Amino acid sequence: MGKGSGFGKVILFGEHFVVHGVPGIVSAIDSSTDAEVKKIEKGLVIKDERKAAKGYAEEKRLQQIESIERMLKTMGLDPKLPLNIWVGGSLPGFSGLGASAASSVAIARAIAEELSLNLSDEKINQIAYEAEKAYAGNPSGIDNTAATYGGLMWFKKNTAGGPDSVERLRIRKPVEIVIGSTGKVANTKAMVAGVAERKKKNPEKYDPIFKQAENLTHAGRKALESYDLKKLGGLMNENHRLLQEIGVSSKELDLLVDLARKHGAFGAKLTGGGGGGCMTALTPGKELQEKVAAAIKKEGYEVLKTKIGIEKI
Ligand code: PMV
Repeated sequence: MGKGSGFGKVILFGEHFVVHGVPGIVSAIDSSTDAEVKKIEKGLVIKDERKAAKGYAEEKRLQQIESIERMLKTMGLDPKLPLNIWVGGSLPGFSGLGASAASSVAIARAIAEELSLNLSDEKINQIAYEAEKAYAGNPSGIDNTAATYGGLMWFKKNTAGGPDSVERLRIRKPVEIVIGSTGKVANTKAMVAGVAERKKKNPEKYDPIFKQAENLTHAGRKALESYDLKKLGGLMNENHRLLQEIGVSSKELDLLVDLARKHGAFGAKLTGGGGGGCMTALTPGKELQEKVAAAIKKEGYEVLKTKIGIEKI
């Protein structure tokens, strides 16, 4: 049997914009998806035991099968290779946390181990990128890169097709964050396609917003590297406003973002594809983290307490 795992992530700056070549900043979190793979005689058996938002597994089922076929094809194998696949781990199947990329990385690593293919992280990342197309249509690559390598990263897609620009960022000390889940499963593919369509139709509105997003990511990097957390939070708030303007937030996301800010979060924004899924709040220190998490929980939403910038992941 082959085993593998992949990290979950939060995007601090630049989701959606990153698909179009704007730089983004992503942090892996200390939750991962694990997979086990065994060759069988025929068929594809998938046992998905991840804790997930209601309807997540059903909604993603066909995309998951397509992603596995894409993976096998990219590995130069028969896309219908009979396999028994188990998926689990500590990363919940909440939209926005890179759960699909984490599972692709985990499954690719497990397949490679089961078939004794000696694949580099670079190759695993490339396989997971191809698999992500099943979930996101035209992914930027930020999710699979974070899922493969972990850590805190600067990511800029090369929209001309060459190698992306990826840099590891280091901060003085990891910072507590709270992730709140709306409980709504989001269709990343439709969200990504929607932004591309609106951008094409209305460049007068969208081009300046994309320029602002680019400036924000640069400013976010400076705030992270100088460890100015108040500034960082303010920039995250700004990023949320831009995401609202391009139409990817939702009533529940806005509610959770407001709630987190009201309870003292330094900043809060949706994270990932939006349209449901998750938000994240910057809550330095255990006490503030606890306070914001409790406020979100009290409203009936699930939370995850973690940190950004953990070195070992
Ligand atoms: O919702 P998630 O975790 O799949 O994140 C999607 C991030 C996007 O920027 C919207 C898409 C992408 O591929 O970068």
